[in-house]
Amino acid sequence: MTAHPVWDVPSRFIHWCFPVGIGLMWWTGETGRMELHSYVAYVLLTLVTTRIALGFVGSYHSRFHNFVVSPAGVVAYLRGGGQFVGHNPLGALSTLTLLLLILAQGISGLFSIDDVSFDGPLAYTFDGQFIDLATEWHDTNWSILQLLISMHLAAIAWYQWRKRQPMVQTMWRGQSADRASEHAPVHPGRAVGVGAVVAVCLWLAIIWAPEAPSYY
Ligand code: HEM
Ligand code: HEM
Repeated sequence: MTAHPVWDVPSRFIHWCFPVGIGLMWWTGETGRMELHSYVAYVLLTLVTTRIALGFVGSYHSRFHNFVVSPAGVVAYLRGGGQFVGHNPLGALSTLTLLLLILAQGISGLFSIDDVSFDGPLAYTFDGQFIDLATEWHDTNWSILQLLISMHLAAIAWYQWRKRQPMVQTMWRGQSADRASEHAPVHPGRAVGVGAVVAVCLWLAIIWAPEAPSYY
């Protein structure tokens, strides 16, 4: 049997863009560098949407169908453990939650305003109440995302050092001595294609969005 990577090149690339991109979003968001904030956000939004799409059309271990389990499955794992080539049931839950929170952060940002000089590109698509809701959600969702990222890092540290599983090396190289896949990855061109379609859709939404009305 040929050993293939558990995490293919696109999923690893997208993953390692998250700490870098979200770190930049934090810095730019807190220091009011909104122009840079929006450009990094468009890249992150494209990447997270692409990763979610790869959950349906990507390589075997990236597909949600092959790792998402029921709540009962998560409880059974917490009680009994077990060996998994891809995400274990707890990792699956954390993966889904993190991806959806990053998506929600990006989408709410598109409709937010900062009350000083920056308006999200889609802010004037709906009424003022929606802007308030989106801006508030952008703020609250960020607190939830920070909590989930901290839990993600704590969980990885636990497996890495207490359980002596080379999680980080596997996410970096794609596979490790005792963790490889029997499924060949799909061609990375598929991820590039999906990413390009997502980027074009986002760009069209931004350029077609309504301008701020004159009374603002
Ligand atoms: C903003 C920071 C981060 C976010 C949002 C994040 C998010 C994620 C997501 C969504 C996955 C699932 C990947 C997939 O299925 O494609 C994942 C997996 C993983 N992450 Fe992160 N991550 C972050 C930072 C880090 C850092 C700093 C490390 C290591 C030092 C790390 C180590 C890992 C590992 C080892 C996995 C694979 C887990 C497994 O084998 O089940 N992550 N992360
Ligand atoms: C994709 C991931 C994103 C992350 C992680 C993120 C993160 C942040 C953070 C940390 C803040 C500061 C929050 C605070 O002071 O409490 C912020 C504020 C803000 N972000 Fe984002 N953001 C993202 C996407 C976007 C997008 C796509 C836009 C629009 C292009 C946007 C527009 C804004 C605006 C207008 C504010 C100021 C809101 C206020 O003053 O309350 N963000 N963001």
